[in-house]
Amino acid sequence: MSVRIGVLFVLLFIFIHVLLTSAQNRDIVYLQALMDNLHNTPPNWVGSDPCVEKWDGISCIESRVTSITLSSIGLSGELSGDIGQLSELQTLDLSYNKDLTGSLTPDIGSLKKLSNLILVGCGFNGPLPETLGSLTQLGYLALNSNGFTGPIPPSIGKLSKLYWLDLADNKLSGPIPVSKGPTPGLDQLVNIKHFHFGKNKLSGEIPPRLFSSKMSLKHVLFEENQLTGTVPLTLGLVQNLEVLRLDRNLFSGEVPSNINNLTSLNQLYLSNNNFEGPLPNLTGMKILNYLDMSNNSFQPSEIPPWLSSLQSLTTLMMQDTGLIGEVPVDLFSIPQIETVVLRNNQLNGTLDFGDSYSNHLHFIDMTNNLISGYTERSRYSADLILISNPICRESDTTASYCDLPIDSNSSYSTPQNNCNPETTCTSDQVSSPNCKCSYPYTGTLTFRAPSFSNLGNSTIYTSLQSSMMVSFQSNHLPVDSLSLSQPTKNSDKYLEINLAVFPSGGERFNRSGISQIGFILSNQTYKPPHSFGPYFFLGHNYDFFADATKRKGKSIGIGVTIGVVVGGCVLVLLLIIAGIYAFREKGRAERATKKNSPFASWDPDKGGGDCPQLKGARSFTYEELKTCTNNFAITANIGSGGYGMVYRGTLRNGQLVAVKRAQLRSTQGGLEFKTEIELLSRVHHKNVVGLVGFCFDEGEQMLVYEFIVNGTLKDSLSGRSGIRLDWMRRLKIILGAARGLQYLHDLADPPIIHRDVKTTNILLDERLNAKVADFGLSKPLGDADRTHVTTQVKGTMGYMDPEYYMTQQLTEKSDVYSFGIVMLELITARNPIEKGKYIVREVKEAMDREKDLYNLREVLDPIIGLTHELQGLERFVDIALRCVEDTGNQRPRMNEVVKEIESIMELAGFNPNAESASASESYEGKSKGSGHPYLNESLFSYSGGLLDSNLEAK
Ligand SMILES: *[C@@H]1O[C@H](CO)[C@@H](O)[C@H](O)[C@H]1NC(C)=O
Ligand SMILES: *[C@@H]1O[C@H](CO)[C@@H](O)[C@H](O)[C@H]1NC(C)=O
Ligand SMILES: *[C@@H]1O[C@H](CO)[C@@H](O)[C@H](O)[C@H]1NC(C)=O
Ligand SMILES: *[C@@H]1O[C@H](CO)[C@@H](O)[C@H](O)[C@H]1NC(C)=O
Ligand SMILES: *[C@@H]1O[C@H](CO)[C@@H](O)[C@H](O)[C@H]1NC(C)=O
Repeated sequence: MSVRIGVLFVLLFIFIHVLLTSAQNRDIVYLQALMDNLHNTPPNWVGSDPCVEKWDGISCIESRVTSITLSSIGLSGELSGDIGQLSELQTLDLSYNKDLTGSLTPDIGSLKKLSNLILVGCGFNGPLPETLGSLTQLGYLALNSNGFTGPIPPSIGKLSKLYWLDLADNKLSGPIPVSKGPTPGLDQLVNIKHFHFGKNKLSGEIPPRLFSSKMSLKHVLFEENQLTGTVPLTLGLVQNLEVLRLDRNLFSGEVPSNINNLTSLNQLYLSNNNFEGPLPNLTGMKILNYLDMSNNSFQPSEIPPWLSSLQSLTTLMMQDTGLIGEVPVDLFSIPQIETVVLRNNQLNGTLDFGDSYSNHLHFIDMTNNLISGYTERSRYSADLILISNPICRESDTTASYCDLPIDSNSSYSTPQNNCNPETTCTSDQVSSPNCKCSYPYTGTLTFRAPSFSNLGNSTIYTSLQSSMMVSFQSNHLPVDSLSLSQPTKNSDKYLEINLAVFPSGGERFNRSGISQIGFILSNQTYKPPHSFGPYFFLGHNYDFFADATKRKGKSIGIGVTIGVVVGGCVLVLLLIIAGIYAFREKGRAERATKKNSPFASWDPDKGGGDCPQLKGARSFTYEELKTCTNNFAITANIGSGGYGMVYRGTLRNGQLVAVKRAQLRSTQGGLEFKTEIELLSRVHHKNVVGLVGFCFDEGEQMLVYEFIVNGTLKDSLSGRSGIRLDWMRRLKIILGAARGLQYLHDLADPPIIHRDVKTTNILLDERLNAKVADFGLSKPLGDADRTHVTTQVKGTMGYMDPEYYMTQQLTEKSDVYSFGIVMLELITARNPIEKGKYIVREVKEAMDREKDLYNLREVLDPIIGLTHELQGLERFVDIALRCVEDTGNQRPRMNEVVKEIESIMELAGFNPNAESASASESYEGKSKGSGHPYLNESLFSYSGGLLDSNLEAK
């Protein structure tokens, strides 16, 4: 019988672990499948648990991958459809990996929880999948600077939460889709704030339907497309518009008259179209900074007098707009005016800036007009160009304005802080503004519509730099300093600035640092000062990771001949790799599961059947475990039980583990063992003890668990562990345990009933996170019997559900009962049955709902209230007593218990989601050995018969 008991025990453990790991296991499978098609994934993407092992760029909640952010790390390859299986994913950011190519998989549409999809500056191509329209939670979609082709999928119109849509700088074609009958369209995006479609091949007219007064669009950027026709009047309805770029299209007709209604507009670009008719009346745009109407077919007209009333104007661009007559003097006294470009018109008369010209004036270009005179003013220092005007033609004048100005392109660069540069920066290193040599992360910040045009004013870069530094710091990024340099306007009229970010605490960034910085910029978490307008960032690959330098160093200094030889070898290698790749590609799906199965060495001859379908757990050889437990040394032995011995071990990666080694006589059949591990390996949750692996080798059966350092909850309640549990810690612990159980009941697949919930089965880690252990008695609910299973009654006296005891029908409510007992034990620190008294009755008898704390002070653990008021204790008792109601249907479900405890914690002023504080500060001498859970006989005994050894009524 003991063999069976042992087997069952193992099975139970495995079960619980399986339940806890199941979700995560699923994720690791698909992550690994993704990795099949990706190169240069972070080197620490190995192992079985991306959440626990903290893989670079991956964040998790409840053991599910919720975020992947990997920018600028040189990822290459393709994003396979497996991405669609990471069903809890909320954020995907793979920006700035130029070599990430191929089309965007339609499977992306399966990510129902995705809220941020960011693939800026990669090498994706092909059409945008229609399935993007299934990402109902999507708020932020940035696919700019790739090679996407084809139309904008109308289905994007279904993304009701979308506020950011950046498709700029691709090769998208076709019209802008709007809804029509049942077909969705972009007009339905009532929460949209950003249409960034610039630099594509979009064609057709802007459908009038696209805009409506329901929209709160801030940025409409349609520049550099092939859009035609007239601009619809409906544009005037989008009252919040701040930036409008329609330049470099094929628009014709008049500028809609109600554009004047866009009173929030800061930047307006109408240039390089075929706009006709009169110049638009823009008197309503009181805060307009930047106006570009150049290169259109407007009726010849004088410079409208109202222009001078636009008191916020910094920049007026009206080249080739058919202007005639004289230049009004007051144009130059607009307070902020910096730049006036009136080239290629027929402006005549004498140019005069007047007495009160703005001292921000910086550049005036009157090339190719009919200006015949110029009134020089004192102190005037801005650049002025009058080439190809009568004034420069008539006499061979040598005035400076008849010559091109000395290139005033600013060569700004963030200065070094008062410090002495280290003199010995190696060739790749750069001296930071703080004079430290290091390897910076670099890239280009591009501002699509800044409100200013004088790039020579260093104040603006200082404000950009300091606001960015504040953002990095407040997001706790490992950044020492940053520098900006070489601001230039490119041919798209975008302002580009080089950015270099320097690492703190070392000379290089790690991958997670780079990806975090990348994300702050790709997700627009960093908001530049308002005057910079909409921006994007393109990061360069970071080539300086510590583990990458060897490779780099090697290639330096290799001669040409060697290079050729190496090149040839590389080619051969590439061919081989390509061959292998193609071969692997074939069986990829198959391998997605197989790869995870550490049962590569599974030997069916041992009676185990096919390889177990294991997710997340490793297969260890006997030799490995022998080594890590120091040859199963007596000193490593931390317990024994019916099942066998338990040893403490240290894996090669330093992880502490508890190795349970079945006695030879208690090993089970290979098939049972396999089933068990499969189950356990699928259970994965922060609040459940994790199965690290197993050994099925040389006739041994061993289970390897994570080692939980702070022992059982029982030890802490009894004072044995020396950890003092105040009210807050108790709430935190019980919440963790409740979440663990809830996971088993609600999220594990198949659901699992623990069957032996008790304080010795709740372990505490170094941060006092509760971990539910010992699924030894757990039983999954099969499909046929989702509500209950009939079994022999097993469990521990004192915690056992009386209903289950009588009917033998096991339901999740039996666990709820036991949990209620644990809750009562938690506040009283009494055993469930002590000196013949039952804890439930004790509490009920002492209780008086009319009195303070329900009159329970007598029975409470005196330690509990030493540091905090016992706020919420009454509610705690209420829910505990509901858990121990006589019949299951009167008891709450675990998810309800979890919610109630969370709400009690909030009431008591504790954050239920805060990371637990380290327990160490209150250690009063950590107990050794005696109290350790792995020593606990009950963990290893299995009640094969009815109510045997586990019915401890101590
Ligand atoms: C401009 O906006 C005002 C309200 O702000 C509205 O009454 C008016 O009809 C609008 N004009 C046009 C032409 O849309
Ligand atoms: C421009 O529009 C405003 C009202 O929006 C009006 O008062 C003004 O007369 C117009 N100016 C011209 C020149 O049409
Ligand atoms: C400037 O041009 C306008 C319109 O073409 C014309 O009426 C005016 O006489 C010209 N002024 C001078 C000083 O040539
Ligand atoms: C430089 O920029 C700052 C901030 O934008 C502004 O306050 C200042 O007046 C500018 N200086 C010049 C000379 O334009
Ligand atoms: C992305 O940036 C926005 C601000 O633009 C911020 O509210 C949001 O929390 C960020 N997303 C993440 C996942 O950090």
